[in-house]
Formats: sequence, structure tokens, C-alpha cells
Amino acid sequence: MIGKCVRVLFPFTDATGSKDRPAVVLSNLDVRGDLDLLMITSKDHPGDGITIRNEDYQVGCLNRQSAVRISRPLRIHISKVTPLQIEFTREFVASLRKHVIRNDTREYSKLAHQNNRPGADPARPAFQPGQTIPYAGRVFTEDEVEAAVSSTLDFWLTLGPEGEAMEKELAEFMGVKHCLLVNSGSSANLVAISALTTHKLPAHKRIRPGDEVITVAAGFPTTVAPILQIGAVPVFIDASHHTGNADCSQLEAAYSPGKTKAVMLAHALGNPFDLATTLVFCNKYDLWLIEDNCDALGCTYTLPLELAKQLGLDHLIKIAEKGSHPMIKIAQPLNSRNDANGNGDSSILSCASRDSRLSSSPDLQPSTSRPSDSSTLFLTAPTGSFGDISTQSFYPPHHLTMGEGGAVNIIRKPALKTYAESFRDWGRDCWCASGKDDTCNKRFQWQLGELPAGYDHKYIYSHLGYNLKPLDIQAAIGRVQLKRLPDFIEARKRNWEQLRRGLHGLEEYIDFALPTHATAWLPPAEENEESRKLKAEINENELSAERSGSQLSTFPISEFSWDDTQCRSNCSWFGFMMTIRDNAPFTRTELAQELDRKKIGNRMLFGGNLVRQPAFVQLKRDNPNAFRVAEEENSESRKQKAEIEETETSAVPTPFQLSTSSSSPLPGADRIMNHTLFLGTYPGLTKEQIDYMAKVIRDFVAGKAELGNAES
Ligand SMILES: Cc1ncc(COP(=O)(O)O)c(C=O)c1O
Repeated sequence: MIGKCVRVLFPFTDATGSKDRPAVVLSNLDVRGDLDLLMITSKDHPGDGITIRNEDYQVGCLNRQSAVRISRPLRIHISKVTPLQIEFTREFVASLRKHVIRNDTREYSKLAHQNNRPGADPARPAFQPGQTIPYAGRVFTEDEVEAAVSSTLDFWLTLGPEGEAMEKELAEFMGVKHCLLVNSGSSANLVAISALTTHKLPAHKRIRPGDEVITVAAGFPTTVAPILQIGAVPVFIDASHHTGNADCSQLEAAYSPGKTKAVMLAHALGNPFDLATTLVFCNKYDLWLIEDNCDALGCTYTLPLELAKQLGLDHLIKIAEKGSHPMIKIAQPLNSRNDANGNGDSSILSCASRDSRLSSSPDLQPSTSRPSDSSTLFLTAPTGSFGDISTQSFYPPHHLTMGEGGAVNIIRKPALKTYAESFRDWGRDCWCASGKDDTCNKRFQWQLGELPAGYDHKYIYSHLGYNLKPLDIQAAIGRVQLKRLPDFIEARKRNWEQLRRGLHGLEEYIDFALPTHATAWLPPAEENEESRKLKAEINENELSAERSGSQLSTFPISEFSWDDTQCRSNCSWFGFMMTIRDNAPFTRTELAQELDRKKIGNRMLFGGNLVRQPAFVQLKRDNPNAFRVAEEENSESRKQKAEIEETETSAVPTPFQLSTSSSSPLPGADRIMNHTLFLGTYPGLTKEQIDYMAKVIRDFVAGKAELGNAES
């Protein structure tokens, strides 16, 4: 009976007085003589009608333009149906089955996954204090679950049409030449650096075993492990607990003429590293820059246009000049303000954190609105679009998720795509997509290595590669997440703001993270007339957005004072980083334990000082030359650094105490390891959860401070 068109005799009349309707049979008779049917209608039912096309009929046809109603499944006894001389194709019936499953999946997910909806979603169940607040997690709705099920039903499995589409969409979002999907951020880092080892590069650019790659000591291990996995030598520079990022002033000290080939750094916890300094350094010595953007999707970085031109960032300038990319822009400063010390610089931009969704730089006005010479213009673009290659992770805590997954972004040199793809896909020379042949049009005309002429290009291997592809099902999920990304990024910024405000006043004991190039967070009380006006304007816009049904809640804005580099960073926060000061009446671990007791998710800055991890200690034991610490050889510069740190931090409003581990060659990474933790900012957090997190911390600090006072 499958595919037959029947008339269904209803035991009742409907509103139009009809008694029977056509329907399509989806199943054979079961043991009780029942059939599964879907009703057919000639009326328009928006969102619920699969139009029947001529090619969907196998035998005969209905005499009116009709559609099948997916939301009207019926199980009915054979005695209630009359077969017609009409039949539908097997493909059509299968597609109807698929629609039904997708519909059911959505209904299932709405019931099962309420707690995974975005924090701002009204369907989220109310938070009760005492319930677990994760630091991160998957945020999704029935859309992602439906996409996963739909792709599973297609059963393409390996990277295919969804993957291809996602690679294009992600490249567009990032403003890069190509994206290659991989099965994790760690794989992305491995593929990225492996691509730079290819013999197809000029000899002086190729990374060979024993060559050096500069990286940062504090962070995630698989930013560094791939450097060792290709046989190169990581050279560690220190990190700052103020930003969580590399101390780029150490780059010069880490450089070895003839040996250094690349810099590979992560934008830590959604805070861009000092890209301007790093790019100047890489340009000076003709080095590769790999940006590990795994934790920073949606961050933007702003630098003077003149500098961008000198650095050859033409790929970004070209996109910005077209004026249609939401994050890549050339603009002028809208406001000027002084830095924290009152050192006025009229070209300095003010706060970078009040942008709504993807508007790339809040204090910038499109350059088209006012003519200006390029020395007063600024280029803003996403992190991960400045260097040569960048990487993403799509593991659940990250800015979007595919379950497991990641991407390699080929920023501007298309040849790197072929090399990276080869390492991702078994090391093959052929670049045909999965399921395709002869893309090069000379599949049997190559002669490479010592293979016979005409050996099938599909099986020619120019590298010792891996297979690091994800499934197409993951890409189907990723594509839905990508559509949510602007909202996710905004939510991360909003959550950080809410936490920062909620914890204002605890600066005596806690150093809160600052965006790179910021010198201080200016608490709301210190706002000036100008910023108050701006805020009122934004709140008014948001109110009208709310009035018009938008989900956006008011988005408080922070002000920062900035250093005099004229560069700015706009963070898409992965987490809310806090470093406990030496004078605090509690330790980082005590605070973490209190958070655990209150079921509030908290994490360390990943591996802390990686050099102190057992894997690296063992590595050094096995091979003392396996890695270097840039400052280790240079105790003189260590002393200088300590002095600089002291002066620098005098610009921060609260007094700074030099790390107790300042005798270590990596005092910043040690401080992060010993005193830093972070809370969640992920888009699944609700306003109530964040208020509760802030309250728990405030109560804890107040209790400890009181105890300390009583004891003294
Ligand atoms: C900076 C950084 N790089 C790389 C990775 C690895 O990503 P994945 O877990 O997808 O392998 C992570 C993981 O969180 C990370 O934080």
C-alpha cells in the first residue's frame, strides 16, 4: 500500500461539511489492519504543506494543485479508506516520512532540551538558587536537533554538502579566503602548522625539524603540542594575568636568526592578543603567524589604517572598502577621551564594549560619513583574519558547537588551503571533494615522485598526512549555530558586563581581566557626560527593540581607558577571568571551593604555566633541547621586565603587587597558574544566574574580609 493515494472516510464532518479527503499511505498494513496516512489538501496551509509536483506522481494524478499536510499524520483502519487510481513515487513518500520525523524531532527537542536554550529565551525554566550553573555548555534549540536528524537521515555521513556549505559560510563570516572543517580545535592547530612544513613552500619559509616557533607559556596544551608534533621547538614567552594573553614585548627576546619560522599564539579566553606588535614583529622577520582563535570567535581588533597598510593587511582593507562586511570596517573615532592618567590623545577611541551584535567597533563611525585623511582612520576586523592561518574549536564550551569540531581558516594565501587540505585528508595530492572525481581534469595524467606516469591522482600522497575530517552531521549542526553566532557573541559580551558590574568594588582583592590595550575598567560612577548620553541613546534603541518584540535585553556598557598604541580590542569573552591578589584574605582555591559548594562552574586558565605540566617536565628530562623559555637565558631582561611591570601597573587604579614568583622566567604564567580562575559567560546563562554568581562571590569576599578584620 505504500505510496497509494486513498480517500479517507471520516466518521464525522469537518467545518466545511465534507466527509472524506484524499490521503497518501505511508506504510503497509500492520497486523491489526491499520495504515499510516498523511492528509492531502488543496487549500493553503502556510508552513504545513508539501506541494505535490507532477514528478511526484507514479500513476495518475489529483485534478487540483494539492499539498500533503505533514502535521496531520493518521493511523486508520483499512476499512475506512478507498484506494484511488493514483500512486506517488517512493522518493516522494520517503521525503514525506522525513518531514514527519523532522516535525516529531522538533516537538521532542522542545520538551527534552529546555535547559539548553539560550539564556535570554523566554522558554528557559526559571533558575532556583542551588541549581547547578555550568561554566559553559551546548546552547541550542529544536533547530539544531532537527538539522542533525535530517542530515542523519540523508546518511551522507562523511564531510559532504553540509560541510561544503558551512566552510563557505564560515569563511564569509570571518572574512578569510577559505575555511576547512576538521574534527577539533586541536586538529585544526595540527593541520595549520603541518601545512607550513610542506616541501612546496620556498625553503626559507618551510618549517623543518629543529626550527623554532614562538608561543605562549600559559594556556591550552594543544596550541603548543602541534609545534612539537612536527618536530619544531616551541620557544615560550610569558603571559600577563591582566589579559590572559602573551606578553608580546618578549617576542624580540625569543627570536633566533635563521631558526625562528613562526609565531603561534592563542587569543586567550576571548581576548585578542596584541596583534599590532605581533604583526610588526612577524613582518620584520618574515615569519608565519598562526592565530589560535579557538576561544575567540567574534572578537574584533582595531588598529590605525596607516599601520594596517604598512603591515600589508590589504585583504582586510579591500573587504572593508566594500563596506558590506559586518565586522570588517574602516572608520574614524567617534569620541575622543583621555586615558586613565589623563594623557589626552584626541585620536584615541573610547570604550570598545558597547557594540550591539556584530557592529565591529562601537566608537567608530563609517569612514564614508566624514571625509578624512587615512592617518585618522582605523581598520577593525575579527581576530583570526590578521595572520596567515587561524584555527577554531567547536567543542561545546566554545562560541559555537558541532559537538566535536574545528576549522582551519586560510586567511589570504590560497595555496595554503591545498597544503592544509592535504594534511587533513590523508596527505593526498588530489583535492577532489568527497564523492567527486577528476576535479583537476587530469586524474590520470600526473607523474609525481617515482610513481609511473598516469598513476591515479586520487592515490598520490605528497605529504605524511592524517584524516581529521568531521562528519557532515556535525556540519549540519554547525550551520544552524553559525546563524545564532551574532546573538551568541552579544550574549557573551552582555554576560561579562553584568558580572563585571556585579563584582565592582572587589578590586582591592581581585584583578579582573582587561581587554588587551585597556589600562583600566572605568566603573559606572566615573562615567562622564558624554558616555552617559551615549548610554541613554543605546538604552533607548534597545527599549524600542524590546517594544518591537526583540529578545535583546538592555546591554550595559563599560568604559575603559586605553594605552597609547591607538589599538583596541573588542572581546567576545569565552570566560570571566579573575586573578586573586596577594593581599586578599582568601586564595584562588578557597574561592573555587566556595563556587563548587554553590554549584557555580569555574575553571583554571586551562593548563596554567604549561612548562610546569608533567608532559613538559618529562619532555625536558628526555630532551633538554625540546623547548626553550625565551627569558630563561636572559636574567638581565627579567629584571628589566619586573621594573616595567611595576611601572605599568601603576596605571591600573588599584595597587599592583609584583608576583611572588618573579624569580621564575615565566612569572606571569606562574601567577595565572597559581591565582587565576574564570567563570562562565556562555550564552546559556540567564540574568538571574549571573546575579546569583555575583552575589555568592560578594558574600564570600565580605565574609573573608570580616574574618580578617576581626582577627587583626
Ligand atoms: C586556545 C585553545 N586552542 C585549542 C583548543 C582545542 O580545541 P578542541 O578541544 O576542539 O580540540 C582549545 C580547547 O578549548 C583552546 O582553548
